[in-house]
Amino acid sequence: MNTAPTTYAIRVDGHLNDHWSAWLGELDLTRDDDGTTTLTVSVADQAQLHGVLAGLRDIGAVLTELRTTGTPAPICPSVLERPLQTERLTLRPATAADADPTWAFRQLESINEWLTGCPANLEGYRELFSKPARLATTVIVTLGHDPEAPTIGDFMLRREDAWAQLDVADQARDTQAELGWVLDPAFTGHGYATEAVRELLRYCFEDLGVRRVTANCFLGNDTSWRLMERVGMRREVHAVRESLHRSGRWLDTVGYAILEQEWSPA
Ligand SMILES: CC(C)(COP(=O)(O)OP(=O)(O)OC[C@H]1O[C@@H](n2cnc3c(N)ncnc32)[C@H](O)[C@@H]1OP(=O)(O)O)[C@@H](O)C(=O)NCCC(=O)NCCS
Repeated sequence: MNTAPTTYAIRVDGHLNDHWSAWLGELDLTRDDDGTTTLTVSVADQAQLHGVLAGLRDIGAVLTELRTTGTPAPICPSVLERPLQTERLTLRPATAADADPTWAFRQLESINEWLTGCPANLEGYRELFSKPARLATTVIVTLGHDPEAPTIGDFMLRREDAWAQLDVADQARDTQAELGWVLDPAFTGHGYATEAVRELLRYCFEDLGVRRVTANCFLGNDTSWRLMERVGMRREVHAVRESLHRSGRWLDTVGYAILEQEWSPA
């Protein structure tokens, strides 16, 4: 699905030199009187915007504002600042165009059984999938490194504040992350989810700098908690008959976590 280009104004601290405009992809650059620089960029999809933001991060620019010009809509940058590659997979930020391929497997009863829910039709699913906050926390997994590679799963990566007492709440901000996953059943049994989660753990600890990563599932979803154990997560919680399943049964759930010092690169 092609979307009309959106124009963003990105404000950073300090005055950037003109040569950074070319380096970042020929952006309009205005040095403002208040000592900041505003860059204007028109992009057709979120991936392009993420490329610019990653470029700014690479040159050490401190982002102070990101807004669309002319519209007050909130901007939710993806938690994944750039695409990641593993031996067999590419992990990239989601765009609205990823709704249709993920609907193909998310609508299956065997998948939906373990998930919070799925709208009854593709139209409703597209609307839900395209919400800025949902896109910002969705990671698309494709098989191979080709731009046309097939989508085999969509994972969740959500950065969170840890619980903290009020007087130290600032220090707990963005210190942990939660992971979730859905793999197309046509691609299970090959270790792809394990490979993707290992890379997301690396990204969480090395790139985002979080101190703890968590994941949860129903106890009956053994493929999911076995995945958590394969990547080195520890079972921390077994809650008894805690969550209501749409079957009408109250089900046990399990919670897993891994700390930065427990994690080791594969
Ligand atoms: C949870 C889910 C992602 C796990 O998928 P999966 O295919 O079992 O996980 P992996 O891709 O890591 O593959 C592991 C399997 O492949 C095998 N495997 C083959 N090659 C492998 C390799 N190179 N590395 C690791 N495992 C490999 C493993 O032995 C394992 O098989 P087993 O379960 O029979 O022992 C998938 O079942 C799913 O999407 N479920 C529905 C959605 C869901 O429940 N989401 C979680 C909601 S909380």
